[in-house]
Amino acid sequence: MSRILLIEASARKTRSLSRNLAERFAAAWLSHAPSDEIIRRDVGLNPPPAITEQWIAAVFKPEEARDASDKQVLTLSDELIGELIPADILVIATPMYNYGMPAALKAWFDQVIRINKTFSFDLARGDNPIEPMQSGKTLVMLTAAGEGGLLDSIASHKNHLHPHIIEASRLLGVEQHETVAIEFQEFGDQRFDHSQAQATAAIEPLVERLMEQTTCSSR
Ligand SMILES: Cc1cc2nc3c(=O)[nH]c(=O)nc-3n(C[C@H](O)[C@H](O)[C@H](O)COP(=O)(O)O)c2cc1C
Repeated sequence: MSRILLIEASARKTRSLSRNLAERFAAAWLSHAPSDEIIRRDVGLNPPPAITEQWIAAVFKPEEARDASDKQVLTLSDELIGELIPADILVIATPMYNYGMPAALKAWFDQVIRINKTFSFDLARGDNPIEPMQSGKTLVMLTAAGEGGLLDSIASHKNHLHPHIIEASRLLGVEQHETVAIEFQEFGDQRFDHSQAQATAAIEPLVERLMEQTTCSSR
């Protein structure tokens, strides 16, 4: 039994390649494990608000010192963290926008990476005062980009999408990650066709591998 949190971040509702990968992933997963729970959070269509001065002040207050308006400003953050904490697998289906993650997805990370909820901070730890409070989660990135070569060679220096998601997810308890990426969308040529076909074909084996790991770890 696995709990999956699926985040979708494309601003496009139709023709979205990353949403298509997400659908395939969810369908493949449920075909193997129909009773597993997939919680979906669509930040592309319903972007979380940017955090504010009041949000920051509220998270740094001890819980008992928060007034009604602090609690109000943290309501969505509490809800999003409530979806995240029980998840074994965090699936993030996202486009690359301007060489990084969409602002809506960054807003989701800003809402869920929270002191004393998802990470602790202690200067006694020396140069690494931040530690995640959760562990053992797996991150699956299902991504789409217009350009190509972002993951390996020719344009990897422009790729601020995958490294940023991986580093930020560490603070949520992610310890391993998998990537399925469609590239060359803007070219629409055979490189795009090949990339799309390869990514689509990678979903089923990935799901089987993750299922095998889940089964092994619960033995
Ligand atoms: C606002 C915007 C910014 C984009 N920036 C980039 C970029 O920096 N690099 C890139 O390779 N593709 C970029 N693209 C192309 C998208 O990553 C590509 O169209 C992808 O398929 C979008 O994901 P989706 O199909 O799930 O909506 C951008 C597209 C949009 C709409």
